[in-house]
Amino acid sequence: MAAAVTSSRPYHVIIFGASGFSGQFVVEEVARYAAGSPGGGGAGGSAPLKWAVAGRSRQRLEDVLKRAAERLSMPELRTDIEIIVADVSIEESLDLMCQQGLVILNCVGPYRFYGEPVVKACIANGAHYIDISGEPQFLERMQLEYHTEALDKGVYVIGSCGFDSIPADLGILYMQKQFKGTLTAVESFLKFTCGPEGSSGHDATWQSAVYSFADSRSLRQLRRKFGHKPLPVVGAKVKQRSFLFFSKEIDQYTIPFMGSDHSVVKRTQRFLYEEDQQSPVRYSPYVGVGGLFSVVKIFCGGLVFWLMVKFSLGRKLLTSFPSFFSFGLFTKSGPTMKQIEDTCCSMTFYGEGYSEGSDPAQGQPNAKICTQVTGADGYVITASAMVQAAVTLLNELHSLPRRGGVYTPGAAFYKTSLIERLNNHSLKFSVKANISHSK
Ligand SMILES: NC(=O)c1ccc[n+]([C@@H]2O[C@H](COP(=O)([O-])OP(=O)(O)OC[C@H]3O[C@@H](n4cnc5c(N)ncnc54)[C@H](OP(=O)(O)O)[C@@H]3O)[C@@H](O)[C@H]2O)c1
Repeated sequence: MAAAVTSSRPYHVIIFGASGFSGQFVVEEVARYAAGSPGGGGAGGSAPLKWAVAGRSRQRLEDVLKRAAERLSMPELRTDIEIIVADVSIEESLDLMCQQGLVILNCVGPYRFYGEPVVKACIANGAHYIDISGEPQFLERMQLEYHTEALDKGVYVIGSCGFDSIPADLGILYMQKQFKGTLTAVESFLKFTCGPEGSSGHDATWQSAVYSFADSRSLRQLRRKFGHKPLPVVGAKVKQRSFLFFSKEIDQYTIPFMGSDHSVVKRTQRFLYEEDQQSPVRYSPYVGVGGLFSVVKIFCGGLVFWLMVKFSLGRKLLTSFPSFFSFGLFTKSGPTMKQIEDTCCSMTFYGEGYSEGSDPAQGQPNAKICTQVTGADGYVITASAMVQAAVTLLNELHSLPRRGGVYTPGAAFYKTSLIERLNNHSLKFSVKANISHSK
């Protein structure tokens, strides 16, 4: 590790919320990385990754280390890894945790309820912060309220470093790098492929979605507070898709993807435009929902969800019975290991723009590109992306913007080797076609 730990700050990373469903995969990923890092039990060298787990229950943290030790055949995890007891509702415990680590990997969500005290404690105590939030209200509010303070303190606060929204945000940066000319518009199509037992998500993500939808009006108010000027529209008008359509690209019925990808990508594109005068890309994310039967299920479920989410009793019912109201898409126990092992996903990007030497203000786009980001199940991608983001921060701190602040992954890491690091781990970035017609 390039960043050095000290006797008073002894850990490179601390996984907060290690006992959670996502936290357990982050623990395994960090353990795997540390074992392979220089001096960490794998290749020789001098600076092994030092890490600890944190959470509110010592017993549950011991259990997670025990499970990870068994799964990875590393008995030493149970005895060697430090446990830090910290609770979001006890400020001093967060301060103590943040004083001991260079980077806090925050897996405690829903972030709208639990995230802010951790961000605050990190900034106050000089620890960098990385999370896997997919909640635009939380992510954008942290930027609005804490960017200046984080910048002043030299602390990086980097949200959405999981499945939401590393593939989309870095996928577009990758496409911009591969495209010869000015890329102006991109559509992405997310497709899941699961095994015979299907796939599902964990309850906490369902809860995050319920409260995000219920509170979508506050996002509009929040965005007005930034006082941003609209981003310039570069290139010809993009044809609008209908809400539901059959996508030839992924051979499925498709709807707009309602996670944080659009919000995160737009923030990154704004940052790159303001910081580096890069031409902003218009982005439309879609997700495949399958065949006609799935479409009917999603529309019935979506209608019930949309009606219920507006009332507190409706929200109580939705969050109490996730499996029933999501037709089994989200469950209190989360996906089984077999489901996780059998699931993979791909995000295919279709971009258009103007080849080198052509003026985007004149005529129609004359160049197209297709790229893809592929990986395993969302939880595997999330853990790996979060850990690689932390490793990049620790090793390439001087390539991050300014001296600190609140950033999207794309804004924080656009000058680093994060895409290459991910390519060696959980996500494969590739070009499928790059076609330029004329100048
Ligand atoms: N971006 C993505 O792609 C992505 C992917 C996966 C998850 N996520 C998000 O990550 C978050 C966590 O998801 P999950 O499925 O792992 O949830 P989870 O299983 O419910 O885990 C939540 C964790 O938070 C801890 N926690 C709760 N209240 C706490 C408190 N007051 N103080 C300290 N720790 C507390 C829990 O500790 P105990 O064990 O003690 O209860 C547990 O470790 C959610 O917001 C989810 O939406 C995002």
